[in-house]
Amino acid sequence: MGQPGTAVTRPLPDPDATRALGQVLGAAVASQAPRSFMLWLRGDLGAGKTELARGVLAGLGHRGRVPSPTYTLVEPYGLAGATVLHVDLYRLRDPAELDDLGLADALAAGAIALVEWPEQAAGRLPAADLEVRLEVSGAGRLARLEPASPVGAAVLAEALARA
Ligand SMILES: Nc1ncnc2c1ncn2[C@@H]1O[C@H](COP(=O)(O)OP(=O)(O)OP(=O)(O)O)[C@@H](O)[C@H]1O
Ligand SMILES: [Mg+2]
Repeated sequence: MGQPGTAVTRPLPDPDATRALGQVLGAAVASQAPRSFMLWLRGDLGAGKTELARGVLAGLGHRGRVPSPTYTLVEPYGLAGATVLHVDLYRLRDPAELDDLGLADALAAGAIALVEWPEQAAGRLPAADLEVRLEVSGAGRLARLEPASPVGAAVLAEALARA
């Protein structure tokens, strides 16, 4: 592993800004075309994780609706020549259930995963390449983006250059 790089923060005044940040991240992932990519989306209930994931999916080429995976836990897409898994672990009852979701297998086979509530996995999730933390800030949000691998750093650098 090389230097993961430093964290950056971005103000997101409204939901459009959240989606726009997601979109440049998704476009950067598509452009970097890593064999697998793990994006962790942290933040409280209603922080904007799904909104950001909608932008990422759009940046990866998705057109159409994006249901929240709140109850299904995983919503799969085929985008940018890859399997893309939008995951929400809020309702995961037991971290052991993670094995049934096949996340680790999918990533090992080469997939892009966008994971809301990664902390629910209690350390059983494959390591993040990039972590985004969203928090409420006035009427808007503040995003903190922290690369956790060389490919995560490359994706973040390219996304910020596009923003
Ligand atoms: N930058 C922003 N400023 C103001 N509102 C925002 C911003 N980004 C997202 N929102 C809004 O916050 C609300 C909650 O967003 P979202 O459903 O994405 O949250 P979440 O983090 O996925 O929540 P959960 O943990 O329940 O899945 C939505 O109405 C969304 O449009
Ligand atoms: Mg959500």
